[in-house]
Amino acid sequence: MDRSNTAGAASTESFVSLSFDREMSAADVERIKQSLGARTALQVPPAVGAAYDRAREVGFSKSSRPEVGALMAVLAAAVPAGGRILELGTGVGVGLAWVMHGLRGRVDVDVVSVEVDREQSELVSRAGWPKRVSLVVGDAREVLSTMGTFDLVFLDIPGGLKASVIDEAVTALRPGGQLLIDDMNPYWSGRDITSGKPVGRRDPDGLLEDPRMVCSLLQYSSGMILGTRLSG
Ligand SMILES: C[S@@+](CC[C@H](N)C(=O)[O-])C[C@H]1O[C@@H](n2cnc3c(N)ncnc32)[C@H](O)[C@@H]1O
Repeated sequence: MDRSNTAGAASTESFVSLSFDREMSAADVERIKQSLGARTALQVPPAVGAAYDRAREVGFSKSSRPEVGALMAVLAAAVPAGGRILELGTGVGVGLAWVMHGLRGRVDVDVVSVEVDREQSELVSRAGWPKRVSLVVGDAREVLSTMGTFDLVFLDIPGGLKASVIDEAVTALRPGGQLLIDDMNPYWSGRDITSGKPVGRRDPDGLLEDPRMVCSLLQYSSGMILGTRLSG
């Protein structure tokens, strides 16, 4: 799914991302907000901006939107000491940069990100990450069951593949662990990347009704499902 168009067509409000080649002060942002009549403004931290730059340089248009990334940062910040975070679908490292922004230099959390495209993963590795970040090259459908358990899983492989790993992603969650799935906007009609057939339901395999989970459909930005794994 191409995320380069950041205006939500079927929504009554629009999200538009603006990029600047310098760091913006809070006063700058407030001035721009006022001049455009914008209701809110989300600032992209400089380290995350570098990841968006990398995406632009290589023409990668599937990076997480800032609203999604900011939520990942919020969830990462809540991961307890000794915790583990998993991203499925590294892309060019934008989601990972948001996670690291949320961790704010903490060294008590391990972060693993899986990407099937070796070149992309190598590009991301050259950006230089703290020691507790591991980049794994592999197919999420094959490696997920071997990776242990996590406090936070970001499921961000293409739409048509998400359903095939959803059960294992829930199984990999620790009690109280959280799962965020991107691109669940019900207005987008995605296509299965193998068959090319339209994918109708955006809530893969009835995750919303999974008895192991408490879930909520977040209908903003690219649309997400956020769920928490119940204890027991
Ligand atoms: C939407 S992009 C990920 C964006 C990234 N998570 C971010 O936040 O910027 C999806 C990524 O999943 C990768 N991918 C596709 N199939 C995969 C698979 N079976 N296993 C792992 N990664 C896969 C693609 O190469 C692509 O880089």
